[in-house]
Amino acid sequence: MAIALAMRPHAGEPSTAPASPAPLLAVEGLSLTRGDKLILDEVSFTLDKGATLALVGESGAGKSTIALALIGLLTRPEVGLTGHIGLDGTDLVTASARDWARLRGRKVAMVFQDASSALNPCFTVGSQLMTPLRRLAGMGKRAARKRAIELLESVGLSDAEARLEAYPHQLSGGMQQRVMIAIALSTNPDLLLADEPTSALDVTIQAQIVRLILEETRRRGASCVFVLHDLALASQACDHIVVLYGGQVMEAGPSEVVLREPLHPYTIGLKACVLEIDTEELTPLPPGAPSFASHKPGCRFAPRCASALERCQREKPPLQMVRGRKLACWNPAS
Ligand SMILES: Nc1ncnc2c1ncn2[C@@H]1O[C@H](COP(=O)(O)OP(=O)(O)OP(=O)(O)O)[C@@H](O)[C@H]1O
Ligand code: SF4
Ligand SMILES: [Mg+2]
Repeated sequence: MAIALAMRPHAGEPSTAPASPAPLLAVEGLSLTRGDKLILDEVSFTLDKGATLALVGESGAGKSTIALALIGLLTRPEVGLTGHIGLDGTDLVTASARDWARLRGRKVAMVFQDASSALNPCFTVGSQLMTPLRRLAGMGKRAARKRAIELLESVGLSDAEARLEAYPHQLSGGMQQRVMIAIALSTNPDLLLADEPTSALDVTIQAQIVRLILEETRRRGASCVFVLHDLALASQACDHIVVLYGGQVMEAGPSEVVLREPLHPYTIGLKACVLEIDTEELTPLPPGAPSFASHKPGCRFAPRCASALERCQREKPPLQMVRGRKLACWNPAS
């Protein structure tokens, strides 16, 4: 079921983000090999300052792998990551541990999927929230405590002062996720990553949490990369969508363009999988999983594609501009 959200600014509404000709984030030709598997295959996309982008695709598409690369958890040379990730002028692929100590938290922060496992069960909420404020923002104890209370209030936690003394297990899943959002935003990062931040939560508070992340990042003029399964939610929440399949970008562009008129057979299939309760029946994608074999030529979606041509088995379609979006397909919808 698509969750009704009205979270993106309406067309023509002034953006709170400063206009900038250079994108905040520029991912270019990002590839990741593990053994003989090509997990990411020349992934490219950009994100402007103050904008929001959703990475969508089925399980195994490479969404979390990209998020991990963006937060510097895949950067050691032996991991096999190549290409470029430019964040405000710094290449994150070649960034050193020392660089990451400066970047993580201040430039880029992450809200993980499952707050109950991401928060440390041995430390109170206050301790986990005040640590980045003291270490990264250089605040004294009293100032950090005051700011921690403000942050908890800003993410909608009632009785914020008392919550500082609570341990994560004393909070509900939604409250834990709010705490993690407060921690991620505490040092005002330029880029917030949110990897399926609501999938461990009750459906009734999923929209609240997505809205909270968007409102708080927008209020700070920050940018946000969301990882989402749900194409409809992604298009309502984010300015841009990047559709991934088997570690490749299949279609990417403004949300309205991609959802209103998807051209890639995979995006069309994903859209058809969005169940609308009051409309026709669900049309599932044909079953199958992508091959990650690095030596395999052609389009990774070909075994599941009803529009596949003979060429699709032999040649990988390049990502190029077609009707207002980037598209990798030899035989798109007309
Ligand atoms: N440490 C690893 N070693 C080998 N393969 C891995 C490793 N981590 C991830 N993969 C593979 O990389 C691919 C992409 O995984 P990833 O977790 O990024 O997908 P995802 O799009 O986030 O999926 P989900 O929606 O299920 O979270 C998968 O095929 C996965 O099996
Ligand atoms: S390139 Fe060919 S196989 Fe791949 S999605 Fe397009 S039509 Fe289908
Ligand atoms: Mg994932």
